[in-house]
Amino acid sequence: MEQRITETLKILTEADKEACETVKVTEDELSINKKKLFIESYGCQMNFSDSEIVASVMRGAGFATTSSVQDADLIFLNTCAIRDNAEQKVRNRLVHLNALKKKKPGLMIGVLGCMAERLKARLLEEEKMVDIVTGPDAYRDLPRLVEEAGTGQKAVNVYLSREETYADIAPIRLNSNGITAFISIMRGCDNMCSFCVVPYTRGRERSRDNVSIVKEAQGLFADGYREVTLLGQNVDSYKYRASETTEPVTFAQLLAEVAAIHPDLRVRFSTSHPKDITDEVLYTMKKYDNICKYIHLPAQSGSSRILELMNRTYDREWYIQKIDRIRAILGEDCGISHDMITGFCTETEEDHQDTLSLMEYARYDYGYMFAYSERPGTPAARKLTDDVPHEIKMRRLNEVIATQQRLSLERNQRMVGKIHKVLVEGVSKRSEEHFHGRNDQNKVVIFPRENYQMGDYVHVLVTECTAATLIGHTVEEVVVA
Ligand code: SAH
Ligand code: SF4
Ligand code: F3S
Repeated sequence: MEQRITETLKILTEADKEACETVKVTEDELSINKKKLFIESYGCQMNFSDSEIVASVMRGAGFATTSSVQDADLIFLNTCAIRDNAEQKVRNRLVHLNALKKKKPGLMIGVLGCMAERLKARLLEEEKMVDIVTGPDAYRDLPRLVEEAGTGQKAVNVYLSREETYADIAPIRLNSNGITAFISIMRGCDNMCSFCVVPYTRGRERSRDNVSIVKEAQGLFADGYREVTLLGQNVDSYKYRASETTEPVTFAQLLAEVAAIHPDLRVRFSTSHPKDITDEVLYTMKKYDNICKYIHLPAQSGSSRILELMNRTYDREWYIQKIDRIRAILGEDCGISHDMITGFCTETEEDHQDTLSLMEYARYDYGYMFAYSERPGTPAARKLTDDVPHEIKMRRLNEVIATQQRLSLERNQRMVGKIHKVLVEGVSKRSEEHFHGRNDQNKVVIFPRENYQMGDYVHVLVTECTAATLIGHTVEEVVVA
């Protein structure tokens, strides 16, 4: 039996990952006589969370969500601009939707999110079938924009706010398993990494009221959810001040407040920035069993020279010292993942070797790896030359991916023979008789369903693994790895 499972659990190809990670669509909402809204979301988790805000705003305007693009009266594409291929995907999709629009007069198409913000009204000139363009801070205005577009005018709002956090809007959970949810704790980004478009598409950094965050997490727990992930581009710089005279709440304090809701509510967070993650955060993680021992700590490069050109504001030594602190405070088992870019401007073979050796040093569990894609208007596009040939970027990317595959396998092999506490998240995609869940370190674990339910915590003895998955069976044991 176990042999069979291993065979069916092949590691996802990069194309698989792209397909399942970057597009999410709305589900059918029961409704009579309501206009139907189809949202397709691209990019990062922040965008998927924003779509839940959009669905909530549009429900107030009399729309119900649908999973069928054919049934929709209104289509929103919530877009990403992080790399050129993210935008190309949206442009190809618009060509398809144009054909649909020709068959169905009255159908309206809105482009939301980061690509809308980057291109603004230019998008309407370039993509004639688009009726509405809305940036990430203007979603409260969507009902008015839809109404305006309904009169035949094009409608645009790309205003970026210094205050908007949508704190008072209850998100409608989309694509939800009812067990794990994401909570947006801040918006925007004030770091000016030279390659990155996010500061231009999402505006200035601002933190959401901690009381509203804790309330949302409490509500989720009461509804049966058992895991929340606190989201922001740079969660370690979270800082909320209720008034001029009160002390600001830090990220470590917020983490502790959310963890204190209930020991059965798991708490995760993403993304940490190496320049800002503090010992206070690491000690808070250590103190609470329900704060998962997993840190996503993007490096972007292992070369100090490249990190400086990227304006990451730390160097290789600083990053290594952060890895050392994590291992010293949280132990060798703490999961660590990274983002890495290959072929940034002027990157030499030696710089690339520095990236590979940093990966070996950090012993990463997982990684998100990309070839550099120049984004118009960013500091790198203005001041540096995108001079590493495409083939070399790709060759280096493949080497980085191969290194990560090996490290992931090695890290997973350490987990074999140990018992892990796993939150049951759903039926395994590859086998009806198996559940999947994740352990503390964010590793996917597959095991036979028996009589367990989604949302249960189970103890799984891991007996084998691939680079992507741990495989095992449940045990009564309460001692946890
Ligand atoms: N806020 C997070 C990352 C957000 S974007 C952080 O600071 O780490 C997600 C990842 O996309 C980045 O970490 C980076 O690795 C990658 N990325 C961003 N801009 C890119 C570009 N122009 N080309 C290739 N990859 C890029
Ligand atoms: Fe982009 Fe840097 Fe901000 Fe991350 S921290 S979103 S990479 S500018
Ligand atoms: Fe996210 Fe893409 Fe925008 S990664 S913040 S949706 S540019």
